[in-house]
Amino acid sequence: MILYYKLRAFIVTWLLRLLPRQAPIVFKGPDSMLTLAEQAAVLGFTKVILVTDGFLAQSGLLDGVQQALRDHGVDHVVYDGVRPNPSFDQVMEAEALLDREGCEAVIAIGGGSVLDAAKMAALLHTNPGPLRKFDGIQKAKNPPLPILAVPSTAGTGAEITLAAVITDPDTHRKIPVVDTKLIPSYIALDPNLMKGLPPGITASTGMDALTHAIESYLATSSVPSTEVQAKAAVRLIFSYLSRAYQDGDDIEAREAMALAAFYAGAAFDRTSVGYVHGVAHQLGRVCDTPHGTANAMVLPEVLEAYGDNVHVRLAELAMVAGTAVTGESIEQQANGFIEAIRRLRAEMDMPLKPESLDSQAIPEMVAETIKETGALYPVPRYLRRSTITGLFEALLPE
Ligand SMILES: [Fe+2]
Repeated sequence: MILYYKLRAFIVTWLLRLLPRQAPIVFKGPDSMLTLAEQAAVLGFTKVILVTDGFLAQSGLLDGVQQALRDHGVDHVVYDGVRPNPSFDQVMEAEALLDREGCEAVIAIGGGSVLDAAKMAALLHTNPGPLRKFDGIQKAKNPPLPILAVPSTAGTGAEITLAAVITDPDTHRKIPVVDTKLIPSYIALDPNLMKGLPPGITASTGMDALTHAIESYLATSSVPSTEVQAKAAVRLIFSYLSRAYQDGDDIEAREAMALAAFYAGAAFDRTSVGYVHGVAHQLGRVCDTPHGTANAMVLPEVLEAYGDNVHVRLAELAMVAGTAVTGESIEQQANGFIEAIRRLRAEMDMPLKPESLDSQAIPEMVAETIKETGALYPVPRYLRRSTITGLFEALLPE
């Protein structure tokens, strides 16, 4: 069975790596979203749709972008109906609006849910539905409307990834759409948009980015270019996540975290992730635990479960994170890195267990973790069923 999993993960990751993709143009720094708005005019668009959520639309944070579009002669309409875990209806509503209004491009401003819904609306506009037919890898024939993305959180990396997840309202199943055409053409990493993020969301999204970077670095599919990106993300997160958590207005920390999430996203987009995500997806599905928080609950424990297979790699990350101590053995450096993740988690007061978890749910969660991880992820070591069960059992209430 492990041989089958290895072969499957090898094929999937090589497919991801070989698919042709265009590198997006990235603007970064305070007010870079205004530069992105100006870019819409440079590209010759006369009308665009701005896809966002209700909170951002009401917050006043988008006033600058909207004014910049007007100043540069680009008309726009706003779709602000995206909610967490977007379903087909939100994608179809956004697409219907952009179709009715004759929009020529999609500007997505928001967190991972907004970016996913906007990407899918752009794809649906040029590829007839139904949406469930895009389930899988490279199912769309035509390029979408141009996508310009501005992430409002530093975590998912959705601004650079080739994936979108949307929920089928009939089956409640999350449909993963993997298509290089979903990669936005233009991206703005604007820390001004992230200043208002509450500490809890800063922690959760930041730990998601850290998990992307570490799982990418440990993946058997990692290559020099993704290793550089993963290391850069780890370095930035260990230097700046605490600062962004302590002081949301720390623009330098916000900008560094935006860059970290982007690098981590670029890295795992090529390599895929590992068991931490396999477990976290079950905690999200069954316990409604926010994704980054769920990752943080099991990240150190999964790294320990990988054992000495990953000590050299973790020692390398310990060097860039600044947690390695001169004279320590490789094993000590690796363990020191794992302990540093635990300290970071504790500093940010992150919950260590889901709000509720029933022991009777665990066998099915373990089976789903094995299925997901085996089918998709090039992990450095396949864990025993009993080990995975232990990861979940440790999350049961006292
Ligand atoms: Fe993630």
